[in-house]
Amino acid sequence: VNHLLGIKYINNSDIDLIFETADHFKEVINRPIKKVPSLRDITIANIFFENSTRTKLSFELAQKRLSADVISFSAAQSSVKKGETLIDTVNNILSMKVDMVVMRHATPGAAYFLSKNVKASIINAGDGAHEHPTQALLDSYSIREKLGDVGGKKVVIVGDILHSRVALSNIYALQMQGAEVKVCGPKTLIPKHIESLGVTVEPNLRKALEWCDVANMLRVQNERMDVNFFPSTREYAQQYGLDKTLLDSLSKEIVIMHPGPINRGVEITSEVADSSQSMILNQVENGVAIRMAVIYLLASKIQ
Ligand code: CP
Repeated sequence: VNHLLGIKYINNSDIDLIFETADHFKEVINRPIKKVPSLRDITIANIFFENSTRTKLSFELAQKRLSADVISFSAAQSSVKKGETLIDTVNNILSMKVDMVVMRHATPGAAYFLSKNVKASIINAGDGAHEHPTQALLDSYSIREKLGDVGGKKVVIVGDILHSRVALSNIYALQMQGAEVKVCGPKTLIPKHIESLGVTVEPNLRKALEWCDVANMLRVQNERMDVNFFPSTREYAQQYGLDKTLLDSLSKEIVIMHPGPINRGVEITSEVADSSQSMILNQVENGVAIRMAVIYLLASKIQ
């Protein structure tokens, strides 16, 4: 397979290989000379139709650490605004001899659609509320690094599951590696048939946190919902926000994760986000090694 379109399309041995490769690159990027010449002959286009800080910069840095040539494209400043289609846009970019495309798009299935219509290796950097595979890989990699293994761990994903590509990719990746997954959040933000994915729903945050080893606190994605959604931000923070008092009252020490960007004071307080139990910045650090591994492994099939 020349693409990474979603966790659904890969298996546990692919994940093992990505993690082993990321271990090597993590060691490389901690050296004084952080760069390797592996992808000197590869050209990669990062095309982002939705905003991003972590994913875009992390992909770009990963590509530069591998010595690839990189071009970056933001839809907001492009001819997409003049009505150019996705396929025309990408084919024009590819005619400049681009080998690989990293794409973020608001439409679920956009990366899959692209993979069927253009001749390049495609990496999905988030497609609407569908999948965000590299985020799930870096999340699992961070759990493995902190707790030794993902298998057998209990992970609760808290919050806006309905609009979250991070939730779906994490559910696939965690279960594939033998973790047990619960979701927790208000009924209005939990997909109706989520149990069919083999996860259980725990509506009570305290109970969910008492159960888990790891809590992944998701952002409420106001941009993907009606302004009058229930509960309100204040109600959400009261019922599903994690503060230090709640964290300290648990009977064991759990690991706190968040994919970013954080709404401080809504899903998580600053005290928790910046505490020693939080892995938030470790996740971001690991994102570069994971993306180097994914790009390197896909590029080895092009070269
Ligand atoms: N986690 C994540 O996807 O963050 P960005 O939207 O900033 O890329």
